[in-house]
Amino acid sequence: MQRTKIKELLTGAEVGNDVLLKGWVRTKRGNKYVNFIAVTDGSTIQNLQVVADAEKFPEETLKDVTTGASVAITGELVASQGKGQAYEVIAKTIEVLGKADPETYPLQKKAHSLEFLREIAHLRFRTNTFGAVFRVRNTLAFAVHKFFNERGFVYMHTPIVTASDAEGAGEMFRVTTLDLDNLPRTDEGKIDFEEDFFGRATNLTVSGQLEGELAAMAFSDIYTFGPTFRAENSNTARHLAEFWMIEPEMAFYDLKMNADLAEDFIRYVIRYAMEQNREDLEFLAQRLQEEDKAKPQQERQEMTLLEKLEFVVSNQFERITYTDAIDILVNSPAYKKKKFQYEVAWGVDLQSEHERYLVEKHFKKPVIVTDYPKDIKSFYMRLNDDGKTVAAMDILAPGIGEIVGGSQREERLELLTQRMDEIGIPTEEMWWYLDTRRYGGCPHAGFGLGFERLVQFVTGMGNIRDVIPFPRTPKNAEF
Ligand code: 4AD
Ligand code: MG
Repeated sequence: MQRTKIKELLTGAEVGNDVLLKGWVRTKRGNKYVNFIAVTDGSTIQNLQVVADAEKFPEETLKDVTTGASVAITGELVASQGKGQAYEVIAKTIEVLGKADPETYPLQKKAHSLEFLREIAHLRFRTNTFGAVFRVRNTLAFAVHKFFNERGFVYMHTPIVTASDAEGAGEMFRVTTLDLDNLPRTDEGKIDFEEDFFGRATNLTVSGQLEGELAAMAFSDIYTFGPTFRAENSNTARHLAEFWMIEPEMAFYDLKMNADLAEDFIRYVIRYAMEQNREDLEFLAQRLQEEDKAKPQQERQEMTLLEKLEFVVSNQFERITYTDAIDILVNSPAYKKKKFQYEVAWGVDLQSEHERYLVEKHFKKPVIVTDYPKDIKSFYMRLNDDGKTVAAMDILAPGIGEIVGGSQREERLELLTQRMDEIGIPTEEMWWYLDTRRYGGCPHAGFGLGFERLVQFVTGMGNIRDVIPFPRTPKNAEF
């Protein structure tokens, strides 16, 4: 007999037939007449209830059918008499494939805290919460490819190991095969990277953008979707040292077209997850409501998770310039009451508290902030006519803050090299990048969306460590 996934069994398509299901035991309860075994196989948040007649399956036979054990069960799929499920299986055979000793198995019936589950990241996939989160993550990843491919974008694989620092922020993880206990030195006593594997210093990529720009100069529209690495020592609920980024890059786009695309993209992937993962999202929404009950009134969510998502997909994002944002902040009650911890002034970057004020308190919707001062943004952003600001955009989302960073790129060779000189980025090393400005350069733009921040937004999970299977954060890379 062929195994059928539980998601399919629960549609009732095979009712009246004998079926084979395989999965893991969630719970087992029973009395002297009958045992009820809830089984999951990860295909859906729903368990399938298996009914085992106590005459046929006495408790001694079922002793290894404990929470966490893997089982193969055959039986007839029938419409359920009981409440809580539409279909159930009347067991004919039950085989335990892998036991899970109840004395030591950490995931017992009770609810566990997210902090505890983080310490057993190798097992947390098996909980309802992480099952839902990672199914939604999968759908969102698929939706990313679907969105761009429907629009004729070419998926470009950019390198993980690189010699350049795309963001110029110096937050790179070095990649080396040099013997750390015995580093080769040059005559001046510096580490001799010529002896290293690649014959030069290399690092893990912080962004695929620069390589993406090269490809956009041939395919018009491309996107990357891969892991990126930042050695920033930020221990927050929104930073990872290893995160996945989606970076589209489009030739012949200006900043407005870039912002339009980013907005369409975010709405599209959220809508797709709402269609595909309704039950998972309802479960996660319920979870948040439970969490809210423990909070004081003023900290509770105004909207449920699904209401929030529906609102985002059906309303335009707000668009303001950085200069307007500073105005709003300086005139806000929060500023007057000295509620902000960090300085607000033109020329100073927005901190997460400011971003969240703008989206959560002022506009109450996602906001696209454009035209930042050039000195707080990366070297490749296009200088505006005012000579002070660049054609940058950040998209800020409620509960998250920055979810997208992007810009129109500086396509004018002279202005670009001048900027690189000012900041001290060696133009000789970036000759390959500058060649796009020398040969057939054109106006172009792109953005980067932090995939985990998107997953956080859609699932409502408060900590970014809970939306990536194996989070990499400072002092933490055990699994
Ligand atoms: O704003 P960032 O640094 O922009 C870039 O990397 C550009 N090269 C993108 C581009 O224009 N192609 O990063 C983009 C996004 C941020 O908005 C944020 O969502 C996410 O990447 N991000 C992080 N996510 C998790 N952990 C971190 N440490 C992150 N740093 C950035
Ligand atoms: Mg940014």
